[in-house]
Amino acid sequence: MILVTGATGTVGSEAVRLLSARHQPARALVRDPDRMTNRTDLADEIEIVTGDFDRPDTLDAALHGIDTVVLVSPAVPAQEIAVIDSAVRQGVSHIVKITSKASADSPVDRRRGQAAIEAHLAATGVAYTLLRSNAYLQNLLALAPVIRQTRGFVMSAGDGQVGMIDARDVAAAATAIATAPGGHAGRTYWLTGSALITYSDIAKELSATLGREIEYRKIRPDEHRAVMIKAGVPEPVASSNAQAFGLIADGDAAWLTGDVATLTGNAPRSLHTFTTEHAAVFA
Ligand SMILES: NC(=O)c1ccc[n+]([C@@H]2O[C@H](COP(=O)([O-])OP(=O)(O)OC[C@H]3O[C@@H](n4cnc5c(N)ncnc54)[C@H](OP(=O)(O)O)[C@@H]3O)[C@@H](O)[C@H]2O)c1
Repeated sequence: MILVTGATGTVGSEAVRLLSARHQPARALVRDPDRMTNRTDLADEIEIVTGDFDRPDTLDAALHGIDTVVLVSPAVPAQEIAVIDSAVRQGVSHIVKITSKASADSPVDRRRGQAAIEAHLAATGVAYTLLRSNAYLQNLLALAPVIRQTRGFVMSAGDGQVGMIDARDVAAAATAIATAPGGHAGRTYWLTGSALITYSDIAKELSATLGREIEYRKIRPDEHRAVMIKAGVPEPVASSNAQAFGLIADGDAAWLTGDVATLTGNAPRSLHTFTTEHAAVFA
């Protein structure tokens, strides 16, 4: 039996949908089961289980009888470590961890947090696989309101290239491993889309999709941080985002691999596919 955490989130909801389509017995961990009442599409093999990363007793109950965990969350170290510790107590045999370009000495605090979680996971002795992804195309959805209002967006990524990946392909890779974990223990995969793109490319693609000019206005990371805070983004998140976009401008996200196709048998979705499918959100 597979358990997917963060089952109402971007990656987790797609992972549950994919497991359901395969009629694979699985549990979807959510903190609010009401959030799943609209998932009438799910097969009978999918159980909804309530659990809170901040309440280890609920995690132990949810993880009882589970063989493999797809671990995805906002990646607050104490929370993911609580899930990992519960998985160890419940005898889980494999954990597929969704992560990023983690590094203990990264200037970006959430990457240091991911490195701390990964180190904790490695120290448990449970078999695990790391899925280190490039930036998700779904992040672009956060720009939709400003694109609708101003026919453009600001960003501090300069002309930096990004191997952006559709989060649905992250979910596809995670479920491919979770349904057949043998051979993936101890492996790290670096998940990307199939092309390096800049935010100028994104503006061009959106312009073509929407049939009107969408402008990318380049700003500095400190200006971007201020814009995000003014828009209501919590200060620590705005600081981390601005740092990450500054790194992108310097080429930090300009990496591509073929790992999605290797794991799933399918080419990753493109920016064109993403903008076309989400045109109504940006229009
Ligand atoms: N965005 C990127 O570009 C990017 C790139 C590389 C890696 N990543 C990694 O991807 C992961 C995030 O994945 P995502 O975008 O799918 O996340 P997400 O959409 O933000 O979803 C987070 C999930 O965690 C659940 N959750 C939050 N607090 C909880 C709690 N206390 N107890 C139980 N559940 C809780 C949320 O439930 P509710 O719906 O109830 O809030 C939601 O289902 C992180 O590890 C991140 O580092 C992201």
